[in-house]
Amino acid sequence: MPTPNRRQIQPATARLCPTPAARLVAAALLALCAGTLQAQPIFDRGARFHPVQAPPGKGMVVSQDRLASEVGARILARGGNAIDAAVATGFALAVTFPQAGNLGGGGFMLVYLAESDQYHALDYRETAPASAQADMYVTAAGTIDTRKKRYGIESVAVPGTVAGLLHAHQKWGRLSRRQVLWPAIRLATKGFIISDSLAYSLQRAAPRLQTATTKAYFLDRDGNARPPGTHWRQPDLARTLRRIARHGRAGFYQGDTAQKIIDQVTKLGGQLTAQDLRDYRSLERPPLIATYRGHQIIAMPPPSSGGVHLIQMLNMLENIDLANLEHNSADYLHYLIEAMKPAYADRSLHLGDPDFTPVPVAQLTAKDYAAKLWKEIDPARARPAAQIRPTQFALNTTESHDTTHYGVWDAEGNVVSNTYTLNFSYGNGIAVAGAGFLLNNQMDDFTAQPGTANAYGLPGGTANAIAPGKRPLSSMAPTIVARNGTPILATGSPGGPTIITAVLQSILNVVDFQMNAAEAATAPRLHHQWQPDRILWEPGIPADTRQILKSRGHPFAPTPRPFGKLQLIAHHNDRLQGSTDPRWPGGSAAVQPAK
Ligand code: DON
Repeated sequence: MPTPNRRQIQPATARLCPTPAARLVAAALLALCAGTLQAQPIFDRGARFHPVQAPPGKGMVVSQDRLASEVGARILARGGNAIDAAVATGFALAVTFPQAGNLGGGGFMLVYLAESDQYHALDYRETAPASAQADMYVTAAGTIDTRKKRYGIESVAVPGTVAGLLHAHQKWGRLSRRQVLWPAIRLATKGFIISDSLAYSLQRAAPRLQTATTKAYFLDRDGNARPPGTHWRQPDLARTLRRIARHGRAGFYQGDTAQKIIDQVTKLGGQLTAQDLRDYRSLERPPLIATYRGHQIIAMPPPSSGGVHLIQMLNMLENIDLANLEHNSADYLHYLIEAMKPAYADRSLHLGDPDFTPVPVAQLTAKDYAAKLWKEIDPARARPAAQIRPTQFALNTTESHDTTHYGVWDAEGNVVSNTYTLNFSYGNGIAVAGAGFLLNNQMDDFTAQPGTANAYGLPGGTANAIAPGKRPLSSMAPTIVARNGTPILATGSPGGPTIITAVLQSILNVVDFQMNAAEAATAPRLHHQWQPDRILWEPGIPADTRQILKSRGHPFAPTPRPFGKLQLIAHHNDRLQGSTDPRWPGGSAAVQPAK
């Protein structure tokens, strides 16, 4: 007999009371009648994968690196709130997770403050330098110089991470700047033991880290990755972090650190100036707030495309009872794929930095627009991508890419969902001499010429053209899901374009299929980004399911490939459930320890 999914075995109250509010009232009445509130079981015996749980009164941090998660959890134990812990974790990742943790990159942070019941979206995406020009990567022959755009010193955009983390700390944190930076300073000064996962990552990236400075910082004397178990100190990075602790943003965007960045850039013939650094500003923007099956979705607005298209896809999928289709059935996946295609098609045309180009956010996230798109889906046939938009692009899947997401939830109910990146693993591989950190290659996320694609195969148009001071379009999608006005899930992932579809599937897993955080992070996923017209799929999407989909015209990539590294925290039955995606080793959900 097939096992009913947990949606189908919900208590009778859930079926009789369709709205969450009605369910709350009914549950309270039932409890009153019984004369006592039943304690919730600590674990769900029906679960196939179990998350890490924090008991009531304890906060939690989930990140891709154990040491960084523990830094955040200890900050919570010392009286810091979720924002303090998020800032400390962000700086710690810059030391312990150099492939994506960073000072030289940028990102997006979503914050929920329980006391004011307010959501805040912080944009600390990098900006194009003042000298940038729309055609700066176009060669005389009219082609794109991808080496320059991805690996050259010209790939560097003005870093936003330090401004962003300090902005969040100053505005919403509680501890002193020194307190939140101290753990990172200590890790860089005293060093730490290189884990298997870091050694593996460095080993893979070693061929790209061979410039003299980068090699000296990240590899051994022979230019090889240090083996796991090596004690690794980063004294120059520690000094940079100390300058930030002492002088705040001036400790990075002015003075010694700024000078070292400019010296490095100038030496390699780049155009970034001291003025570019001084002018950098992180920006608070109104978060996108939408609904999905009675839940609230709080997401990142442009210049991230993450929130807009996440909401657009959820709006489409709300038109069908997904839970009835069964998780990862051919029908379910068919609708997912068909919802993904028009969203990514719209991305290529409409999305860019809203301070430079009008982005029709309201139209793209409107329920009636989604209803129109939904009607265009054929339940029985895949639509060729060219039928939705007529351009073909090659997706480069051989690149190694890295971004990182982390979440923090404190005992007071404050939540942070943060994604930041250098773009590729280790950015452009150029470290700043004397300062110990790597520079980003975020300029590659701009569209070099209308109709051309970035390293992730994402095509774009004039909305994402290069202009001085402009922010390149991103797919980063830190998201919070709330029910009855209270957060129930913080989600996010690295993975370039696959970020949005990984986050989408994490939300469907929790909302439609009642999965816990570990199940939601672990379940096999698939991805379609309109162009190229090809489904990326993971092991665990069975051959017969793929066969049904192929017979409907769905083109699958020849081999499966894991994608996304979800970092989830869910709030369920008064407990926090955390799960780091098992697709990458070394992450952890750290529970706030005793003081
Ligand atoms: O902002 C973006 O969309 C990309 N620069 C993100 C890159 C990324 O996620 C690489 N990760 N694995």
